[in-house]
Amino acid sequence: MSFLKVEDLYLYYRTRMGTLQAVDGVSFSIKKAESLALIGESGCGKSSLAKCLMRLLPRNVELFKGHIYLDGSDLMELSDEEFRKTIRWQRISMVPQAALNSLNPVIKVGEQVAEPLLIHKSIDKKEALERVRELFSLVGIPQAFMDRYPFELSGGMRQRVIIAMALIMNPEIVILDEPTSALDVLIQASIMNMLKRIKRESNLTFILITHDVSISSELADKVAVMYGGQIVELNDAESFYKSPLHPYSQKLMASVPSLREDKQPEYIPGAPVSLINPPKGCRFADRCPFRTEKCSEEPPLVSLKDGNYVRCWLYAR
Ligand SMILES: Nc1ncnc2c1ncn2[C@@H]1O[C@H](COP(=O)(O)OP(=O)(O)OP(=O)(O)O)[C@@H](O)[C@H]1O
Ligand code: SF4
Ligand SMILES: [Mg+2]
Repeated sequence: MSFLKVEDLYLYYRTRMGTLQAVDGVSFSIKKAESLALIGESGCGKSSLAKCLMRLLPRNVELFKGHIYLDGSDLMELSDEEFRKTIRWQRISMVPQAALNSLNPVIKVGEQVAEPLLIHKSIDKKEALERVRELFSLVGIPQAFMDRYPFELSGGMRQRVIIAMALIMNPEIVILDEPTSALDVLIQASIMNMLKRIKRESNLTFILITHDVSISSELADKVAVMYGGQIVELNDAESFYKSPLHPYSQKLMASVPSLREDKQPEYIPGAPVSLINPPKGCRFADRCPFRTEKCSEEPPLVSLKDGNYVRCWLYAR
């Protein structure tokens, strides 16, 4: 039974150049406590998809439609007010991209993390700070840091505070949008280890957004590869990392440097497809080594097991 099921989701932006199709008919589902890695190059629509799930949309939205079922009920039927009161931060929360400098500089971090509890739950400050203390130990922040201001913390510690903020209301789904991309590799590794431990010890459902395939493999049970506003492959992590199916997924995997093999990492030739008036047919066609004439037509979604799929003519019967 899927816990989060997204069906035919669209998010288009109005721009001076025309309509930009950031999320264009995206569907996927995940089970409770499963982690989905959403990967793809810069500008393919990953953060836009996260914004749909959090309903944190900019003003220039031209189209926002589709279905987002959480535990069977369609969140798209909720009013903005209902969504804000019952879903955002409470059931689905997010560590936004590039949030490292978003903490309030004049409030101690312990109090900042406690704030939503004081506003939304009727508990007193002492109890709220106690909950923050527990959370700090879960995300690996020393207790003494409760009384520090953001500028007194390293980047890695600040990111842990932001992760604690996303967890404070006890959500069921946490979206992590490039949670480690601003950090050096050692700190990156320790944050990923902390997330893996939380995943093991809780039944949180994570959606990890990253352009870094090697980071995605740390947490993923399932992988969604996005290209040009669409999911081109949705697959179980094990199958995906062993033998990715979509030509773009294969290129992404081949671009990861390997320490063991004496092989140069490949790069993906060509430029990402424009999301304003994208070409008809397969959006990856310009860069695809397997392209045939057929590829100028819209590729089918070819079903794999467990509701997974690949969007490519190569696999069509
Ligand atoms: N508010 C907006 N108005 C117009 N275009 C936007 C807006 N927000 C994002 N875009 C465009 O939508 C496309 C998808 O952007 P998005 O931020 O979702 O990509 P991303 O995959 O998260 O990229 P990155 O890896 O760089 O974070 C890009 O072309 C981006 O320029
Ligand atoms: S549909 Fe054609 S162009 Fe697109 S990825 Fe598949 S083979 Fe390549
Ligand atoms: Mg992004």
